[in-house]
This record gives sequence, C-alpha cells and structure tokens, in this order.
Amino acid sequence: MPSAPDPDALKQFSFTVWTYKMGEQVSLLIHLGDRLGLYRALHGAGPLTSHEVADRAGLDERFVREWLLGQAAARLLERHDDGRFELTEVQAAVLADEEGSLSFSLGAFRGGTSPEAIDALVESFRTGRGITYEQQGPAAAAGLARMTGPWSRLALTSVILPALDGVVAKLEAGATVVDIGCGGGVTATTIAQAFPNSRCIGYDPSSIAIDMARERAAAAGLDNATFVDATAVELPAGTAADLVLCFDCLHDMPRPDQALAAIRSALADDGTVLIKDIRSTGDFERDRRNPLLAMFYGFSVTSCLQSACSEPGGMGLGTLGLYPERMEELVTAAGFASFTRHEFEDAANLYYEARIA
Ligand SMILES: C[S@@+](CC[C@H](N)C(=O)[O-])C[C@H]1O[C@@H](n2cnc3c(N)ncnc32)[C@H](O)[C@@H]1O
Repeated sequence: MPSAPDPDALKQFSFTVWTYKMGEQVSLLIHLGDRLGLYRALHGAGPLTSHEVADRAGLDERFVREWLLGQAAARLLERHDDGRFELTEVQAAVLADEEGSLSFSLGAFRGGTSPEAIDALVESFRTGRGITYEQQGPAAAAGLARMTGPWSRLALTSVILPALDGVVAKLEAGATVVDIGCGGGVTATTIAQAFPNSRCIGYDPSSIAIDMARERAAAAGLDNATFVDATAVELPAGTAADLVLCFDCLHDMPRPDQALAAIRSALADDGTVLIKDIRSTGDFERDRRNPLLAMFYGFSVTSCLQSACSEPGGMGLGTLGLYPERMEELVTAAGFASFTRHEFEDAANLYYEARIA
C-alpha cells in the first residue's frame, strides 16, 4: 500500500493551487470593474456606500455591492468600519489613473481567453508551431497597447530618450524614427506628437495592430506618423533611420537575429537603436527571485513563445529568453560596435542602446 500523503503538506499544496483559481476569479472581477467604470466611479471620491458607487456608475446596487465586497476581500480597495468603500490614492494609481500613472495595470486584465484561442494553444503543443499576434485577435492587441502604454506615453520622452546620447537634439531638429514591432502605435504616436519636425514609421506584421496604430495617429491629427504592415526583416536597407525603437518585441520574433541585421542595414551611420526587452537573467533559479515569475511563463506559453515559434526555424526565445548577455551577443553579431544597458526602474523591462560605431 502506498503511504498516504502528509496531511499538512497536502493542505498547503491544495492552498497553493487554489490561490491560482482565486487569481482567475479576481482577474475577471478586475476586468468587470474596468469595463463597467467601477474603478473610475470610486477614483478620488473618498468613502462611498454601495448605493453611491452604483449611482455614480449607473449600475444595479446588488451586483455592485457583491463586487465591492469581493474587491475588499482581495484587498484591492478599503472597506471602512461603517461599511463604506474607498479606493485609496495608491490603489487608484494602479486601477484607475490611466492617463497619469506609470503603474496603471488594467490593460493586462482582458477577461480571459476565448475557447478558440485555447484550442490554438493546445494545437501548438502538438505541432510545435505557434500562433502570431495577429491570430491572437483584436482584444489581445488592444490590451497590449494599454498594458505597455503608460511607460510609452509617460516615461519615453521625459526619462528614456533624454538618457540617450544626442538623440533628443536630433528629434527636435527633425529625424527619421522607425518603430519596429510597433503594435497599436502608442510609442510611435507619442514620439510624433512630441517631436513634430521628425517623422515616425511603425512596422508590424499584425494588420490588426497596424489598423489600430493608424486610427490612433488619425485621432491625434498626426501626419508625421505612418504605419507599414510588415515584419522587421522587411525594413528597407538604406532607410538611414536616426533612431530605431524595438520595444518589447525582439523576443517575440521568430528570427531576432535577422531582424537586428535588417535594422543595422536601415540605420544611419550615426543612428541609435533603442531596445526594450523583458528583465530576466538567463538563469531559472535567479529569475525565481521575481515573485511574479510564473506569470511571465504564462505570457510566454500563451503569447510570446507562440509568436516566436510561428514560423519554421523560429528561435523560440520566449518571454524570458533575451537576457542581457544573449541580447549583447545578438546585437554584436548583427554588426553593432557599441552596446549599453540602461536602467530606468521599469520593474518588467531592461533597456539597451546600440550603435554602429
Ligand atoms: C508585445 S507586442 C509589443 C508592441 C509594442 N512595441 C508595445 O510596446 O506595446 C509585440 C509586437 O511584436 C510584433 N512582432 C512579432 N513578430 C514580429 C516581426 N517578425 N517583426 C516585427 N514585429 C513583430 C507583434 O505583432 C506585436 O505587435
């Protein structure tokens, strides 16, 4: 007879497993709060009764009350002794202030994955062939643009570009900027808006993302931001770009080595490449110090690795595969002589500056 498992260990392990189910449920409640305007109704309002929150959001009080209690149980808002609910300043920075907070996180809570998308993930394990970002659909593209948007909109022109040698002066005078893997166009439109003398060209093989980027540029009335439905390797040699951005996309590419070679050929001799990629060390045990590591593997299996294996011969680096040493190897092999790592206190990402000379 096999011995029965230790009851305490069993209890503890069951608890660990159920915390992930709790995460799934709370994630859905966060998505509902976002979609229904509940965080916005609470933002800056001080303590409110459930009736007051429901009135502000134009919703049914009984459902709102249950949602509020669930949020308080998850410690996402405060419940006062008198039964009123409050979204504190810190909580609002993460859950409500989309325009002004670098920590705004609601873009990551998309309300789950469709059964069709889950079927495609199952199939990828059988075939070894992943799905592209385009195949992940419009909700994924919109969520990504919202998830990475705060850093692109709020830190790019104020903190990140000024740290690069001579780049802001060139942008002010009028430069050619290429945004590779531009997604929904937040970064490209931010630069086009901040530097009207420059022109920004975004490249992405997802037509869904390119349509979104074009709409964003049109809504902002920009005529110096254009978008091309193409992969990085299709970037024309001789573009003579002064600045090429590669934000959160090299690890998603089947062939980041070929992408970097194309970027090298498209860069002006004194141009700059700015790469943003996921913070990782290349060592699983060291990466484990990140308490959210399992979530990054989740992003990898369901999204980044999918895209990186979407073509035969894809390198399949996955979310965590472009750690600094590997990045330097690839950048150097593509013909860049200078490689500098920048630290901008971005919890999820590292930044690298590459130049030809
Ligand atoms: C995680 S998203 C990042 C989007 C955007 N740069 C941002 O920061 O929000 C990765 C993007 O890389 C794009 N991508 C995937 N393979 C690519 C390739 N071979 N060349 C260019 N872009 C690619 C995807 O379509 C997707 O829009």
